[in-house]
Amino acid sequence: MNKSPHVALVTGASSGIGEVFARKLSAKGYHLVLVARRRERLERLAAELPSAEVLVADLAVDSDLLKIEHYIADEPRLDFLVNNAGFGVPGIYYESDIESLNKMHRLHIIAVARLTHAALRGMVERSKGSIINVSSVAGFIQAPFSVSYNASKSWINGFTEGLYLELRRSRSPVRVQALCPGFTYTEFQLTAGIDQRAIPKKLWMSAEAVVDTSLRCLERNKLFVVPGWRYRLFLAGIGVMPRPVRHFLAIKSSLSSRKSVSAKKSQP
Ligand SMILES: NC(=O)c1ccc[n+]([C@@H]2O[C@H](COP(=O)([O-])OP(=O)(O)OC[C@H]3O[C@@H](n4cnc5c(N)ncnc54)[C@H](OP(=O)(O)O)[C@@H]3O)[C@@H](O)[C@H]2O)c1
Repeated sequence: MNKSPHVALVTGASSGIGEVFARKLSAKGYHLVLVARRRERLERLAAELPSAEVLVADLAVDSDLLKIEHYIADEPRLDFLVNNAGFGVPGIYYESDIESLNKMHRLHIIAVARLTHAALRGMVERSKGSIINVSSVAGFIQAPFSVSYNASKSWINGFTEGLYLELRRSRSPVRVQALCPGFTYTEFQLTAGIDQRAIPKKLWMSAEAVVDTSLRCLERNKLFVVPGWRYRLFLAGIGVMPRPVRHFLAIKSSLSSRKSVSAKKSQP
C-alpha cells in the first residue's frame, strides 16, 4: 500500500540512468512509479525498493502513452517526473529504418511533451514539483551518423528552456531541468550497436555520477546540467567556434570514429 505523500514517476526505469534515478529518489522517501517495457526488470527493481509500483508501457505506442498520461493527471501526489526513456538509431539518416526513427521521435518528443503536459498543470496548481528531461550533450551539436537523435535531443533542450522561462515568468516554484550527459555506462550503446571500446575511457561517466550531479543541480534550479568538466569545456569551446569550423570538426571526427569502430568490429 502506497502511503508516501510524494510520488515520483521515472520512464525508462528498467536500466541505466532511469534505474539509478529510481533508486536515488526512493532513498529520498518517494513512492516510485517505474515505467518501461520490460516487466521483469521493473518488478525486480520494485521489489528492492521500500515503496514502488510498476507500469509496463511502450511509450512509443499511443494507447500505452495515454495510460501513463492518465495516471499522472490523476495522481495529486506526483511531484517528480523524470522523462528518461530513450535510445539511439546510429547511421546515415536516409539509410536508417524509418520505423525505428519514428519510434525514437515518438519517445524523445511526443512522449516527453505529453507526459510533461499531463504533470505540469497539477504541479503549478500545487506550487510544487520537479521535471527532469534527460537530453544529451548531443543536443548541443549536430553530427553525421546521429542526425535525428541529436535533433530530437535539441528539441528537448529547447522545450525545457521554454518551460523554464514560462515558470519563471509566472514565479512558479516548479523546477525543470534538461540533463545533458555525455557517454555514460549503461545499456544505451548496446541497444544502439555502438562499440564502447571505440570511445576513449576518459569520456565515460557512471550513471551514478550523472544522476548525483543532476539532483545536486536541481537544488539550485539549474536549467542545463552537463555532468563532467570535460564535456562542459568541450561545449564552451564549441560555443565560440564559427559554424564552418564546427562543421569541419564534426565531419572529421565522425570519419575517424567510424574508422575505429569498423577496425574494432573486424577484430576476432
Ligand atoms: N548512455 C549514454 O551514453 C547516454 C548519453 C546521453 C544521453 N543518454 C540518454 O539517457 C537516457 C537513458 O538512457 P540510458 O543511457 O540509461 O540507456 P538504457 O540503459 O538503454 O536505458 C534506456 C531505458 O529506456 C527504456 N525505453 C526504451 N524504449 C522505450 C519505449 N518505447 N517505451 C518505454 N521505455 C523505453 C528502456 O526500457 P525497456 O527496454 O524496458 O522499455 C530503458 O529503461 C536516454 O534518453 C538516452 O538518450 C544516454
